Amino acid sequence: MQPQALSQHPMNGRGPMREDATPDRGIGNVKSDIPSQAGKVALITGGSSGIGLATTKILLEKGATVHVLDINPPPEEDIVNTALHYHHCNVAVWEDLRAAFDETGHIDYVFVNAGVLEEKDYFADETDAEGMLVEPGYRVLDVNLRAAINTVKLSWSRMRKQPAGRPYSIVLTVSVAAYVSDQNLPVYSGAKSALLGLIRSLRSVIIRDGITINGVAPGATLTNLVPAHMAEAITAQSPAAVSEPRFVGLALVYSAIAAQDREVETYGKDKDTDLWKRGRWNGRVILVLGKSYTELEEPTADLRPFWFGRENTAVLRRAYAATDLRPAQ
Ligand SMILES: NC(=O)c1ccc[n+]([C@@H]2O[C@H](COP(=O)([O-])OP(=O)(O)OC[C@H]3O[C@@H](n4cnc5c(N)ncnc54)[C@H](O)[C@@H]3O)[C@@H](O)[C@H]2O)c1
Repeated sequence: MQPQALSQHPMNGRGPMREDATPDRGIGNVKSDIPSQAGKVALITGGSSGIGLATTKILLEKGATVHVLDINPPPEEDIVNTALHYHHCNVAVWEDLRAAFDETGHIDYVFVNAGVLEEKDYFADETDAEGMLVEPGYRVLDVNLRAAINTVKLSWSRMRKQPAGRPYSIVLTVSVAAYVSDQNLPVYSGAKSALLGLIRSLRSVIIRDGITINGVAPGATLTNLVPAHMAEAITAQSPAAVSEPRFVGLALVYSAIAAQDREVETYGKDKDTDLWKRGRWNGRVILVLGKSYTELEEPTADLRPFWFGRENTAVLRRAYAATDLRPAQ
């Protein structure tokens, strides 16, 4: 049974919250709204460490079977769980990723989570033997963007062939840097912003195949990704901005199974009244900042006439209606 999302809450993401608190904009009780997941199968990339490992543990606690795709194995104490299956996989290599998907059977949820930080200054001058500026390698794009798109592609391809009528979900680990860019991480911020574009473009299409697509945008989370000196600086100056991996993991699992009172927005030929359809949590992104959860996509869509312009919004809506090729429902 799907957990029922709660209606609006006056906290509106302004105060700290417990895992079982009721945050704003229809996010239910993130902890208590996660029912047993016995019989469900999840696949998670980057599930051996940090946020991915915390998510893996929550899913295992709830009775799901979990396939972890990672270049590194999970900690030994977790591997003993017979419901955890580790697949050595470099997500940036298509053949690796496709082979790992082929090793799994039926999948209900996919968590697109593997990620790396910007490993160098992409805009520093680096020259070859002739003194010519060289093109940087793009590991941060390969892992955070190209591999994420490929993971969505393999998931969609698999899920649309599986029996219809079951709730399938894809959840991407985005970043706060997709909404508020980090000047130290321009290419990482760009890659994570692109994931938002992917979610926004696919949410009105992929749902037609019974699949939801959502994101979670963590702020600073204490994992191996964040260098110790940065973690220390943020914890000292802005402790309210720092999250525990488990708190983020709960938002990821919640995003795969929750319900919503309305859609984020209508698209193309949709009728205005379609906005008020209840259904599965779809096209949303939960910002996780410290101990608070805030859903960001609904207000971003609702406020579009203000920031994009009322006339611009109306003109574009008509243009997108003209090119809406989805079959009528
Ligand atoms: N920690 C933060 O502050 C923070 C903030 C915002 C977003 N995120 C995002 O959260 C996600 C998880 O990061 P984390 O903080 O848990 O970091 P982490 O380093 O603890 O975990 C990342 C995992 O991804 C795996 N991985 C990396 N490259 C891979 C590859 N090519 N193929 C397969 N696996 C690979 C690593 O082995 C590791 O297990 C990432 O997408 C990251 O961008 C993290």
